[in-house]
Amino acid sequence: MNVLIIGSGAREHAFCWKIKDSKILKNLYVAPGNAGTEKIAENLEISTSNFLTIKKTLISKNINLLIIGPEIPLIDGLTDFVKNDLALKEILVIGPSKLGSMLEGSKDFSKEFMLKHKVPTAPYKTFDSSSVKAGLDYLATIPPPYVLKADGPAAGKGVLILKDLSSAKEELTNMLVNNKFGESGHKVVVEGFLEGIELSCFVLLDGKSYLTLPNAKDYKRIGEGDRGLNTGGMGSISPVPFADQEFLSKIDKKIIKPTVEGIIKDKLDYVGFLFIGIIKVKNEPFVIEYNVRMGDPETQVILPRIKNDFLEMMIKTATGELDTINLEVDQMSYANVVMVSGGYPESYEKGKKITGLNQKYESIVLHAGTKKENNKIVTNGGRVLSVISKSNDFKTALKKSYKTIDLINFEGKQFRKDLGFDL
Ligand code: AMP
Ligand code: GLY
Repeated sequence: MNVLIIGSGAREHAFCWKIKDSKILKNLYVAPGNAGTEKIAENLEISTSNFLTIKKTLISKNINLLIIGPEIPLIDGLTDFVKNDLALKEILVIGPSKLGSMLEGSKDFSKEFMLKHKVPTAPYKTFDSSSVKAGLDYLATIPPPYVLKADGPAAGKGVLILKDLSSAKEELTNMLVNNKFGESGHKVVVEGFLEGIELSCFVLLDGKSYLTLPNAKDYKRIGEGDRGLNTGGMGSISPVPFADQEFLSKIDKKIIKPTVEGIIKDKLDYVGFLFIGIIKVKNEPFVIEYNVRMGDPETQVILPRIKNDFLEMMIKTATGELDTINLEVDQMSYANVVMVSGGYPESYEKGKKITGLNQKYESIVLHAGTKKENNKIVTNGGRVLSVISKSNDFKTALKKSYKTIDLINFEGKQFRKDLGFDL
């Protein structure tokens, strides 16, 4: 089996790391990958937004399975492109259709889906440039804080939470009239604020049935105590202590089942991962968002817990035989601490030499923004490395990761030292 993984983050390095030991793997490719994936797979320097280049690669490398990591190629229709091309139609694909990817690609589409299929979520209304006044009037009828969501993809930056009515009105106008967030913000979902603790749930769908994967909690803010700017993710923990059996059963019954049934009923042609962002409000689960891919940094603590042959799981997913998989999960706790460049998520420098990667440590170190330059590994992005450790409890796992981080250095290295503070 020849496999191509699209993406360049620690999530994709985790996929590679998990697949590389499979007995059924022949060749493993990543496009574009990073300095970590380069060690265990062949990196292909191709533009992942150019579907024709991807087609050429799929053919020339004789790829049997394509795994699409990030959301943008999915939202842009890469899965449909491969499935509808006669020359590619034998290739198995992990990733939903363009229509299915609207669950992430349009906040309005996903809210409408939740309402239609009775999936608990915050109340909402959607506005566009023709209904600005109605939007401003609506804001005045709901209690603060105000949640404004750009309809289209905005790399996690399209959600604004405003404390007072005047700033909410100003921002809604900025989005609808003044082009803040560009085209993604030309439609805005205004929704009720939910107060609670968040959890990331993951489901694998084969078009007919589904498998619930382990859950995780991620930490999005740059600063300790969940303060400061949003980032791509500063760390994660799995399993999540507050998600006990009773709460997980509620999630399954009230959220996962109606979501999967809705996907099938609406013929969304969904084969791949579904990430359900959940918030626990007074012991009840509500959906904050759907993502049509695995989470990053959650994947880095979920995949190590899966004991099955992951490549076999991917094949069975793509061939609609997920019901033959008996998921085996490691019950130990895993923690991931993300090392980021100084200045991130605002401007930061690249090209800083990373030392200590070859030392002995008790962690798995997965790469994100790294590249090889003159035989040295240097930083090449905001999020640089994910440092994952396991133990009987997440606190001890975190301690192991922090010990590993002490050994790895680059100029300006930053990481959060308080992960799990809220658990
Ligand atoms: P999203 O991109 O929809 O996941 O939103 C980004 C973040 O904004 C979430 O992870 C939440 O922390 C927060 N958020 C989104 N919607 C709400 C809501 N209705 N109530 C409270 N917080 C929210
Ligand atoms: N961890 C959040 C995300 O992957 O979007």
